[in-house]
Amino acid sequence: QSPIESSMIEAHDLLKKFYHHLLVNTKEGQNALEYLQARGFTEDAINKFQIGYALDSWDLVYKFLVKRGFSEELLEKSGLIIKSEKRDSYFDRFRNRIMFPITDHQGNTVAFSGRAIGDDTPKYLNSPETAIFNKSKILYNFQTARPSIRKKEQVILFEGFADCISASTAGVDNGVATMGTALTDYHIQVLRRNTDTAVICFDSDSAGLDAANRAAGLLSDTGFTIKVALMPHNMDPDDYIKTHGAEKFLNEVIGGSLTYTAFKMRYLRRGKNVNNEGDRIQYIEAVLKEISKLTNAVERDHYLRQIASEFSLSLDALEKQQKQIYYAGN
Ligand code: CTP
Ligand code: MN
Ligand code: MN
Ligand code: MN
Ligand code: MN
Repeated sequence: QSPIESSMIEAHDLLKKFYHHLLVNTKEGQNALEYLQARGFTEDAINKFQIGYALDSWDLVYKFLVKRGFSEELLEKSGLIIKSEKRDSYFDRFRNRIMFPITDHQGNTVAFSGRAIGDDTPKYLNSPETAIFNKSKILYNFQTARPSIRKKEQVILFEGFADCISASTAGVDNGVATMGTALTDYHIQVLRRNTDTAVICFDSDSAGLDAANRAAGLLSDTGFTIKVALMPHNMDPDDYIKTHGAEKFLNEVIGGSLTYTAFKMRYLRRGKNVNNEGDRIQYIEAVLKEISKLTNAVERDHYLRQIASEFSLSLDALEKQQKQIYYAGN
């Protein structure tokens, strides 16, 4: 860490406390606090994740940090203030937003993500990439979750901060979230050093399913045993927990998460009408291809039987076709 980087971290750390104070102790933060409460964020969660609020002001943060001795140049490099070329002055990046501090894997506060209150766009505004913040290298909550990831020998992957926080309130202390980017090789390497089992718990909307499918492939290729947790269509883990409660989330969503092959079968079925002969044959062929990748004969047998029974096919024919696919691909 260079002296400039330490200074940038110090500014973030101070600001994190300031934002948190504004949220929980001030009249100006009342509205934001009520928004969080209405969404079901508990006081514990607000404290644990040091959630805060950036006032609807153009220069409060600028003044606050300059007064504490940080130079304009450093603050601009940190992404906390922005220079207006036209007016030759600086203004705060985050205004009227719920602030989620982002911690690097050593526990330093290195960035913020600010959520609009209500339907303003963009929904989330992140700090820019800086000397101390690289989105594709950070997993939200990793530093806190790490001991539990190691102890439980399992990580739970979420798509959003809100999901990670809600799940934490529900008792999931081994959850992490990407920062609104796809899972990177770097993320996977970091996780792999700590565990070899991952539960992918992304949003159950179309984008989330595609992302889960991609993550599932990458993680499996890196030697992870993965499972995929699904919710009713279009729900995310936060929605689910708020609607159905923690217990149901743990037992049914996490507890009922699908194996890789079972998820693939579900995924391959999307947009297909298996009552239609063409679709059905295509689907079965695609599933057999997945089954061919399994090295465990018992597992292969399990899924082949499932297909045989669902579509009233002979197990023998399915086995033959599966072997043919296997040898064609090897
Ligand atoms: N994201 C982002 N910028 C946006 C929208 C999303 O960076 N404009 C990132 C955030 O990290 C967010 C994640 O993508 O946590 C998942 O997006 P989404 O599912 O849309 O948000 P939720 O986490 O469900 O947020 P909320 O519940 O507050 O609506
Ligand atoms: Mn507090
Ligand atoms: Mn989403
Ligand atoms: Mn979501
Ligand atoms: Mn959500």
